[in-house]
Amino acid sequence: MALPKIDPTTTKAWSNLATHYEEIKNQHLKSFFESDAQRAERFSIAWEDFYVDYSKNNVSEETLKLLLKLAEEVKLKDAIHSYFSGDIINETEGRAVLHTALRSKKGDTIKVGGSNVIEEVYQVKEQIKSFTEAVVSGQKKGYTEKKFTDVVNIGIGGSDLGPVMVTEALQFYKNHLNIHFVSNVDGDHVYEVLKKLDPETTLFIVVSKSFTTQETLSNAITIKKWFLQYATEGDVAKHFAAVSTNTAKIEEFGITAENVFPMWDWVGGRFSLWSAVGLSIALAIGYENFEQLLEGANGMDIHFKETAPGKNIPVILALLSVWYNNFHGAETEAIIPYTQYLHRFSAYLQQGIMESNGKSMSRAGQRVGYETGTIIWGEPGTNSQHAFFQLIHQGTKLIPTDFIGFKESLHGDKDHHNKLMANFFAQTEALMNGKGEEEVKMELETAGLASERVEKLLPFKIFEGNKPTNTILIKKLTPKSLGALIALYEHKIFVQGIIWNIFSYDQWGVELGKQLAKNILADLENSEIGNHDGSTLNLIQFFKE
Ligand code: F6P
Repeated sequence: MALPKIDPTTTKAWSNLATHYEEIKNQHLKSFFESDAQRAERFSIAWEDFYVDYSKNNVSEETLKLLLKLAEEVKLKDAIHSYFSGDIINETEGRAVLHTALRSKKGDTIKVGGSNVIEEVYQVKEQIKSFTEAVVSGQKKGYTEKKFTDVVNIGIGGSDLGPVMVTEALQFYKNHLNIHFVSNVDGDHVYEVLKKLDPETTLFIVVSKSFTTQETLSNAITIKKWFLQYATEGDVAKHFAAVSTNTAKIEEFGITAENVFPMWDWVGGRFSLWSAVGLSIALAIGYENFEQLLEGANGMDIHFKETAPGKNIPVILALLSVWYNNFHGAETEAIIPYTQYLHRFSAYLQQGIMESNGKSMSRAGQRVGYETGTIIWGEPGTNSQHAFFQLIHQGTKLIPTDFIGFKESLHGDKDHHNKLMANFFAQTEALMNGKGEEEVKMELETAGLASERVEKLLPFKIFEGNKPTNTILIKKLTPKSLGALIALYEHKIFVQGIIWNIFSYDQWGVELGKQLAKNILADLENSEIGNHDGSTLNLIQFFKE
């Protein structure tokens, strides 16, 4: 079944939300707690190792009721069914969207074009398993019979960001293999990585869903040339593997069939870390841990598919985000993990969220008359507190923020962890409650400041508060909980795309730049320069001088 094509602004819930917004917009967030002692219990969801508190949001019972009604009116339930069943919901590319199939249980059946994709998924999983075990154990060796010590993932976008984020996040679980990433077409990136490598003990994985991406192919060719300075063409088979849907192109590159890991057009690049695109993850943390990552995501899939919308974590977080984006006029959202391990998490989600929902055409092919995709950014706490939190606390912009924290640290240092988590809790409290005039005045007076100085400083020291946050508190950062956390945001993306009536799974917006770059490359390499606007022409000329 195709996705419904309902303009959300034509629903009854949308106009009710607009009226409701006018009634509620001046209500301070902390006042919701003053009038409701049970708010924290009622506006939170406990699921497995997760505790999600969304009570520090500018919403009342009525707001939530209306947001849930909106989800109902845009037929979210039917859309979820289509998503999990392998319907062609990526209409502009004519594809199903089945990253969820990559973490399905063995006996499950999901058919695309008449065949059960789960069987193919499990065949490739077996291949990942045996390859990973052979490399990690040292059974698989390089061209001089030495064991592999280093692995380089060559890919960009979805063929890089997921593996980078997860291998960083799960560093604690890592084995002896050193994992490197080469993504940028900037030659300085690849040459810096090559400086650290020994060709005899390095395994290269070329990851490209299309196997046509300029950056990845250029880097793969440069690396192969470097490798051939030390080894022979026949040795390539031992040191290069590839992951792609385009197996013909891989053969041209000279990689042997045994080292080719297929993927499918129903896996979007930015949702592909669960496929063989995650080979570097499996190599870094071992196959069992990779399985755990998938299992965690599968748990979140089941929660999302089967839980009533009012207790459904991705649905609630998506609706809250729509509330701020479309009614409060918030433009960005921050994601702040309180663990250094997740330092690439927001960068990873930037592609997932912004490449998916950065669209202005409705599913009916008309320009939407409302805001869609939010701008995502963030860095780990507490570092971010000493960088940009000033703006969240006292700036003019509304920035709904997700705080992600863990009950246990991995190295188990209680002293550090308590300090980290004290900051974690303090920030959401401060953002909500702020600090009023009376309190600031008293503080300054107690500190012994002269009354003239107190009056002068007062306005600068006041915190308005009323800044919304979600708190996602998880027992421990494990492969399983990370899998569930990533899947949570994947489903949030889906829900928002459904509400905004856009196609979340294509990315035509990245094509124009690629096309123009091809023409300009010819301008840079030849003496003639083609037609350009005055500015671009001047810049190219300046570059060539
Ligand atoms: O930037 C566009 C894009 O197609 C992303 O969606 C994708 O993740 C990335 O390029 C890499 O593509 P590929 O895996 O085909 O090399």
